[in-house]
Amino acid sequence: MQAKGPEKRSGPNREVRALPKVLVSGRGGSGKSTLVSLMSRSLSKRGPVLVVDADESNLGLPSMLGVDPPTRSVMDWLGGKGAVREKLFAALRGVGRESPCFFESPVTLISLPRDCLSSYGNIYLVRIGKIEHSMEGCACPMGALARGFLKSLLVDSSEWVLVDTEAGIEHFGRGILEGVDTVLLVVDPSREAVILAEKAARLCREADKPFLVVANRVDTGSEPILQNMLLSAGLRTAASFPYSPDIAQSNLEGSHLGELGEEETLRELISKMEAVATR
Ligand SMILES: Nc1ncnc2c1ncn2[C@@H]1O[C@H](COP(=O)(O)OP(=O)(O)O)[C@@H](O)[C@H]1O
Ligand SMILES: [Mg+2]
Repeated sequence: MQAKGPEKRSGPNREVRALPKVLVSGRGGSGKSTLVSLMSRSLSKRGPVLVVDADESNLGLPSMLGVDPPTRSVMDWLGGKGAVREKLFAALRGVGRESPCFFESPVTLISLPRDCLSSYGNIYLVRIGKIEHSMEGCACPMGALARGFLKSLLVDSSEWVLVDTEAGIEHFGRGILEGVDTVLLVVDPSREAVILAEKAARLCREADKPFLVVANRVDTGSEPILQNMLLSAGLRTAASFPYSPDIAQSNLEGSHLGELGEEETLRELISKMEAVATR
């Protein structure tokens, strides 16, 4: 389904704010895409939400959101991976200019080509680009484009942007933090997730980006252990989502998550995100 397109909000006084673009990060399988979907549903009751799929590999986000994949990615829009790679290499060859300019003017939800968006009510999905062919090369062009896209993206005062990422922390290395305001570090009950969150938190501090830690898929046995491990790493959780058999089943069946999240916990998390964003 191609997006109908958000309504134009009027006039020269269209209020623009830099906040909040939220990056969702964590290890593979921790629940990033699930939380992006649940949060987008909750936030969409208040205004438009642009979900940016910056994971070049995984394909499950559209079904979790209840939309078809957009017809074109941002990469397609800009002429494909070859064209994006050329711009990236040209910038790397240039003296003292390592950030390619992919967009001549600021990008907004309204200005995005309709076939780059899918929508469900107030939720809009845009994809940066996926690996499509064997031997096509690395995902560096997608990483550079994700950073450029997010840096160029202007957000209306009623809008939120949620960025779903690939597993791990390569996106930090690629500089994606330059294009976002806040980071959610998703931690599932595993040692690796805690170690990764500790490192990601350090990278956020280094880049002077506020972050919140979210525990996901916990139960009564694992939650206190996880909380203690996080505390020992100097991290406190902003929210904790329990293991939900309904979420697991919905994912298996490929049906959209709808209202399956803990609404109260989602609302509290969103309030904390707002507090961070307006600090
Ligand atoms: N709170 C939860 N309760 C039960 N299953 C969950 C929960 N969060 C995520 N899952 C399941 O864990 C798996 C990985 O989630 P996903 O959001 O795809 O992770 P990621 O995007 O971090 O790789 C999926 O099968 C998903 O349904
Ligand atoms: Mg995912």
